[in-house]
Amino acid sequence: MTNILAFESSADETSAAIVQDGNKVLSNSVATQINSHKRFGGIVPEVASRHHIEWITRVLDDALDQAKMTMDDIDAVAVTYGPGLVGSLLVGLMSAKTVAMVHDLPLIPVNHLAGHIAAANFNQPIQYPALALMVSGGHTELVLMPKENQFEVLGETRDDAAGESFDKVGRLLGLNYPAGKTIDEMAHRGQTNIKFPTAMAREDNLDFSFSGLKSAVINHVHHAEQVGESINQDDLAASFQKAVVDALIGRTKKALAAYPVKSFVLAGGVAANMGLREALDDLLSKSFPKVTYIPVPREYTGDNAAMIGAAGYWNYKDGIFADLSLNTDPGLDF
Ligand code: KG4
Ligand code: ZN
Repeated sequence: MTNILAFESSADETSAAIVQDGNKVLSNSVATQINSHKRFGGIVPEVASRHHIEWITRVLDDALDQAKMTMDDIDAVAVTYGPGLVGSLLVGLMSAKTVAMVHDLPLIPVNHLAGHIAAANFNQPIQYPALALMVSGGHTELVLMPKENQFEVLGETRDDAAGESFDKVGRLLGLNYPAGKTIDEMAHRGQTNIKFPTAMAREDNLDFSFSGLKSAVINHVHHAEQVGESINQDDLAASFQKAVVDALIGRTKKALAAYPVKSFVLAGGVAANMGLREALDDLLSKSFPKVTYIPVPREYTGDNAAMIGAAGYWNYKDGIFADLSLNTDPGLDF
């Protein structure tokens, strides 16, 4: 049995977790800073770093307590070194290095995006080759995994990320940051009666683009204001969400048709979206019944250290370790 202590601090969640053999979450302590950033309508990097410093030792103690463990039970320390905000990443990285050095444990560098995908193993083991749709606040990517811990980006967004478009439309509607969850709930109540363009529907590749959709929503709201028409916000949310989901489904369908895979993983913060989860379930069961659909369990879709422990185990098995000179890589991709 291998117990990995993991740290995550790339954005606005400070988290520590203990994960056994890459798939059993023994503890997952997450301190969110959302309330501090709400009034600014987004993450303020300086505020985020200060929060991480304040919380990192508390989540570490909490993770050990929850698992009823001491550092003697830990075999390795995993940490997110990118992508993310440099000042935030540094807090997790310095903490992980310190703990690894003091307790003489191996240090495992983890890519945050691989972490999001690895969290699918908390649902059921990913079967390879696999295709993953990674949708978060900063990234929107279709990733082919020929084998465990191997990543090939097939398509990505050319402008806004899917989560970013939810947050920007939320801001327009006067909703709190981050708005994805609220829009999801509003969409559930609303009707899809406004026709918005489905992003990049016609282009012959696997890339995404959400900025045109965002502009269409802004124009719709401004036009209604000018002519004095009232807007049903739930209907707007439902129609916008449908356009995002249609774009994600369209590209996923194309990728699944081109790459025969055994399983399909849905990961990242936007993977919590109920409309998206249902639409993919529908697509897989109707058009690709032989592909196993593995959405990350909803409680692990947002940023958390358990997912870093899961991806850290892949690196542990592959012998990928770092020494104390490890630096952050804010722009890291696959
Ligand atoms: O993965 P994540 O926690 O952080 C990043 O690595 O970016 O993703 C956060 C993003 C935010 O944009 C948030 O609005 C979005 O995920 N999100 C959702 C939902 N829950 C969170 N978007 C749509 N529907 C949801 N239910
Ligand atoms: Zn994330």
